[in-house]
Amino acid sequence: MKTFPNPVLTEAQAAAALDDAVALVRQNLPLFTTRCQNHSSVNNIYPACENTQWTCGFWPGEIWLSWERTGEEAFKAAALTLVDSFLRRIEHKIEVDHHDMGFLYSPSCVAAWKLTGSETGRRAALLAADQLCTRFQEKGGFFQAWGPLGAADNYRYIIDCLLNVPLLYWAAETTGEERYAELAGRHVATCLANSIRPDGSTYHTFFMDPDTGAPVRGATCQGYRDDSCWARGQAWGVYGTAISYTYVRRPEYLDAFRRVLAYYLDRLPGDMVPYWDMTFTDGDSEPRDSSSASIAACGLLEAAKYVPEEESRTYRKLAAQMLRSVAEAYAVKEGPAGIGLVCHGTYSKKSPYNTCTQEGVDECVSWGDYFYMEALTRFLTDWKLYW
Ligand code: GLY
Repeated sequence: MKTFPNPVLTEAQAAAALDDAVALVRQNLPLFTTRCQNHSSVNNIYPACENTQWTCGFWPGEIWLSWERTGEEAFKAAALTLVDSFLRRIEHKIEVDHHDMGFLYSPSCVAAWKLTGSETGRRAALLAADQLCTRFQEKGGFFQAWGPLGAADNYRYIIDCLLNVPLLYWAAETTGEERYAELAGRHVATCLANSIRPDGSTYHTFFMDPDTGAPVRGATCQGYRDDSCWARGQAWGVYGTAISYTYVRRPEYLDAFRRVLAYYLDRLPGDMVPYWDMTFTDGDSEPRDSSSASIAACGLLEAAKYVPEEESRTYRKLAAQMLRSVAEAYAVKEGPAGIGLVCHGTYSKKSPYNTCTQEGVDECVSWGDYFYMEALTRFLTDWKLYW
């Protein structure tokens, strides 16, 4: 496995970095309690939005992490206000015809239930788990990511969904109903069988045959090209396989984690924060995606719990090196109301070959802020997952 000479984050630095992040969350709380935070910033300032985007769960996750760090009642009260809005969203089925129920409901509502015993949080998260189950396609065995169910041009899943299925593992645990975990396991099996290339890189999206369920082809939406490797997709692969192993101790999940991680590390530039697509590396003038670094660090810290001692030390060191780089060169220390926590994230960059709409390029991104705080919290404490 590739190693790096970079300095590691110390405990004191991690504590200071987390406190800086919490201070920005505290400052932004009045802006985003009755409204949500947009998926990405504009000149590093987040606009407010209604609770309609796939990303709205990350901000309440940041508030819960701030509450865990400080115990301040204002954080808990704001997070619970947002939880009410998440219950309304799922009860009224507002913009939930897609697979992102885990991204939405784990850091907001599962967290509320685990941290405070909120019945509203539990109810909302279980409704979201049921909603995700409606997107399971028997032919092919996967959760359809986007679009009308069964539509041939959308008969596909995406690697990001590895972070949606933990909602189902949790739902199975909390209700005792195995059907949730069974669908999660079938989706993960399909994903690991098709999305990881022989060199350990991943396809962002993967089409299946709607008639036979057979795998058809990998493609990209937000990566540079179909055959390149979108950095955040790779990071979702790193973290997603680690979480699946946490819930279901199947050796093939850990094996997949190691293969995806090895490719990710091989393609990192010197400061360990990837360019938005892993085609690009040191010397390229393309933007970075700092959120991938924090997501990968979370995956490393999660997997470190389960692997042999020496491997565990290596993972913790890699995470500490990545986080030092993000904390020193990407994290925001102060700024006006609405400022993001981590600069230089990339949501979707248009290329001549991909199908996305360009938005949030070289900006703060809501999940980048959340996973930075989660990674720091993991680094400092024996953190109980919201996932
Ligand atoms: N899940 C979509 C993204 O990572 O941009």
